[in-house]
Amino acid sequence: MKLTILSTTLAVGVAYGQGSNSGWEPAGPDDFRGPCPMMNTLANHGFLPHDGRNITKANAVHALSAGLNFDPALASLMWDQAIIANPEPNATFFTLDNLNRHNVLEHDASLSRVDAFFGNNHAFDQATFDETRVWWTGPVLDANMLANGKLARQLASKAKNPEYTFTANTEQFSLGEVGAPIIVFGDLESATVEKNLIDFFFENERLPVELGWTKKENPVTLEDIMRITGIVGEATNLLTTPKEAPAARRRRDLHSGRGL
Ligand code: HEM
Ligand SMILES: *[C@@H]1O[C@H](CO)[C@@H](O)[C@H](O)[C@H]1NC(C)=O
Ligand SMILES: *[C@@H]1O[C@H](CO)[C@@H](O)[C@H](O)[C@H]1NC(C)=O
Ligand SMILES: [Mg+2]
Repeated sequence: MKLTILSTTLAVGVAYGQGSNSGWEPAGPDDFRGPCPMMNTLANHGFLPHDGRNITKANAVHALSAGLNFDPALASLMWDQAIIANPEPNATFFTLDNLNRHNVLEHDASLSRVDAFFGNNHAFDQATFDETRVWWTGPVLDANMLANGKLARQLASKAKNPEYTFTANTEQFSLGEVGAPIIVFGDLESATVEKNLIDFFFENERLPVELGWTKKENPVTLEDIMRITGIVGEATNLLTTPKEAPAARRRRDLHSGRGL
């Protein structure tokens, strides 16, 4: 029994070119790709099926674990949240093409894709990515710069796209996406990430191994995601909080009713 499991694991590892960066190959004409730069990347490396099809829970857990050292419980939960992408009832897999369905998981104001209203909502678009990058003002990105890029994209969409849609649910996914580069390529402790790693990843849909990146030593957990998402969420707030607010200096007039 144990042997069977072991040999199955090994077979999957070989089939998907586990751990070998040389296995990277861009999508061919019949391969599906989608709006997620990381799912595309994992398919390009062969951690996911290269054709972008048959993303079963087992295949997703394998890819996120072998490629990025995501904790299997976290990867499993992410797949559970994504299976609605396949419109078939009781589906056991989704494809990267399924992820393109607008306002299912794919949404407006992406960092690197145009809104569905304007055309292709899933292929990388350099001009859109450059709009985001205006706000990435240093070689090391922090939550504030990432949040500013996200807000700028929302403002541009809200101003120009008559069908602009962005719900509270979208916001949760969006914050996860904006924080994801810190999780995978950055430093969890300081919640920062080198810009050159993110640029390389978005523009090539390839893990930045040649820039010195390696996957995290410790498995990434749901707790890590929640923490980083929370930090990015706070950074999207356009109100400032007083740095020091000694009681004597607080306003004691009508405005104090607002909770300060
Ligand atoms: C089961 C796993 C995953 C699924 C199903 C998934 C799905 C998606 C989808 C549907 C989008 C498009 C949202 C939009 O319209 O912008 C997206 C965006 C994104 N995803 Fe994933 N994702 C997964 C895992 C990851 C991981 C592990 C990362 C780590 C870096 C990641 C990074 C991103 C980023 C940065 C975006 C934003 C792209 C942009 O705004 O241009 N995703 N993902
Ligand atoms: C889909 O992936 C599963 C592993 O999760 C595998 O057993 C199955 O053979 C695959 N199906 C196709 C059509 O590739
Ligand atoms: C999906 O699963 C539910 C609950 O297990 C079942 O009642 C339903 O018939 C299934 N639908 C299809 C189309 O297989
Ligand atoms: Mg989008």
